[in-house]
Amino acid sequence: MCGIVGYIGARETKGLLLEGLKELEYRGYDSAGIAVLQQGAFKSFKALGKLVNLEEKCANYATEGFAVGIGHTRWATHGKPTELNAHPHMGQFSYVVHNGIIENYQELKREMIEAGKTFLSQTDTEVIVHLFEYYFEQGMEAFEAFQATLARLEGAFAILLVTTSLSERIFFAKHGSPLIIGINAQHEKFFGSSDAALIGKCDQVIYLNDGEYGYLDPETIALFNKEHKPITPALCALPESKLSAQKEGYRFFMEKEIYEQSTVLSDAMLGRLGDGEILFEELDSAILEGIENVTFCSCGTSYHSALAASYLFERLAKIETHVAFASEFRYREPLLRKSTLFVVISQSGETADTLESLKMAKAAGLRTLAICNVDNSSMVRLSDYTILARAGIEKGVASTKAFATQVAVLWMLSLYFAKARGTMSREAIAAEITTLREVPAKTAVSDALHERTRRLSKRYLHGHGFFFIGRDVFYPLALEGALKLKEISYLHTEGYPSGEMKHGPIALADPELFTIALLPRHMLFDKAKSNVEELSARDATICVISSEPFEKADDFIPISTCNHYMLEFFEMMVALQLLSMEIAVRLGNDVDMPRNLAKSVTVE
Ligand code: G6P
Repeated sequence: MCGIVGYIGARETKGLLLEGLKELEYRGYDSAGIAVLQQGAFKSFKALGKLVNLEEKCANYATEGFAVGIGHTRWATHGKPTELNAHPHMGQFSYVVHNGIIENYQELKREMIEAGKTFLSQTDTEVIVHLFEYYFEQGMEAFEAFQATLARLEGAFAILLVTTSLSERIFFAKHGSPLIIGINAQHEKFFGSSDAALIGKCDQVIYLNDGEYGYLDPETIALFNKEHKPITPALCALPESKLSAQKEGYRFFMEKEIYEQSTVLSDAMLGRLGDGEILFEELDSAILEGIENVTFCSCGTSYHSALAASYLFERLAKIETHVAFASEFRYREPLLRKSTLFVVISQSGETADTLESLKMAKAAGLRTLAICNVDNSSMVRLSDYTILARAGIEKGVASTKAFATQVAVLWMLSLYFAKARGTMSREAIAAEITTLREVPAKTAVSDALHERTRRLSKRYLHGHGFFFIGRDVFYPLALEGALKLKEISYLHTEGYPSGEMKHGPIALADPELFTIALLPRHMLFDKAKSNVEELSARDATICVISSEPFEKADDFIPISTCNHYMLEFFEMMVALQLLSMEIAVRLGNDVDMPRNLAKSVTVE
């Protein structure tokens, strides 16, 4: 998502900050900014869009001699992508950059407004700088004020803060978002939210752990742990390849993105899980006024999350739900009624068919909502309401973490609607929220699961085709599993509802037909099991994914036991993604850029 850089030293600071930000461009951003402190005075520049806009703005500015500087690329989560919302955020005598989300920012903002602070942006970040200055003005030393500020923040953050009261120093903190310190033989000091920003500038780095904070100045690295005890920094050598630094040690972006799912799912839920209710500050009660049904419209992977959502919406919010492929919807002369809430789901927000369908719905006067991963995208600009998926930029063409966050957002939305429509008790919603909180842990990739899929992959390289089968929400998951494998292995795969196999596809069953069967313990287990038995009796080769070993299967990928089918859904999702990736690796394919496919399809 967002990127952070920082510098303390005597080289031209603006140029170094911009260079660092350029190395973080791969993470995606919609605005950028820097603030440089030299001889007690600040100079700050911000620009919307690409870094070249920022470069142009500060073209006539350069530092000579010692300075400290911080820089940021922003991927909007709270507040639109505007220049005012771009970082660094300023107070009266300090600037801050931040990655992550301050969950309790509204409460803190109210408190600071009451204390007389003026806010310029809509961001959660701005509370940090005002809190810091507030405590400083109360008579605390700058470091004490920084500590007092950190103690108030809930959520995830990596923070750099500079203040004129100590103009050779950068205060920093890491909690849930990455932050790295870099040093070199010239006694320069750097910060980066990823290795990529530091390569070529320093040779040793300190990877900060959650809860660690402190400050750097030309002579000092002051580092404290979450118990506020001073600690000795652990220095490591810095990797040398920029591309591999962008992949953060993973072989492919797809692999990195599979591993990131646990974190981005936490991001997707931050601030949205209330006490017995779902909180979407992006929505209001008017969204359901006069609404009798919901139509989801999307393409590709986003279509699969829509299909999964249709089960959740009808089950939990008891609202009639339709799902459409955008490419079909456009030309079928659909009946568009104002009692329909029209929901588009899109990672990019630019897919041509989905965008045109949205325009049709708008033109017919329907209320519209976009579930999207890119804030300034066309769909977001066009829709009445938007919920951001918060997956961060996805580079692998085969979508993984975008799908995961879409499903999480849609599950939350079904609960939001369930409350509004009175179809679930507060206790029942609270129980689902408890389950939602378990999702990040369930999607953390274990070595055992990855190793299992790697070993199994060698048995699934040939044959005459794959069926992925499941029931209920596991049917859309089967479709998504089949799509993943198809996209990157170029093997013929199909997703099917388990119960439909006997109505035709079972004719294909023989040992060369591979079936990947999803057998969740908490959703129609016995029925799905019978369907697998039917295939097993015809000697199909079967790989079962379940928490229960199944003697009639040839292979088995175990998932952990749990008490809710959606936890099984998310864990199986990870297993399917890893299996596809490992098969594609063995086949020697380009995992991140499969043939014939594009990440964003802006033509119909
Ligand atoms: C392309 C991508 C898919 C994606 C689909 C819809 O085909 O390769 O991964 O699912 O577009 O994209 P969207 O950005 O609208 O979710």
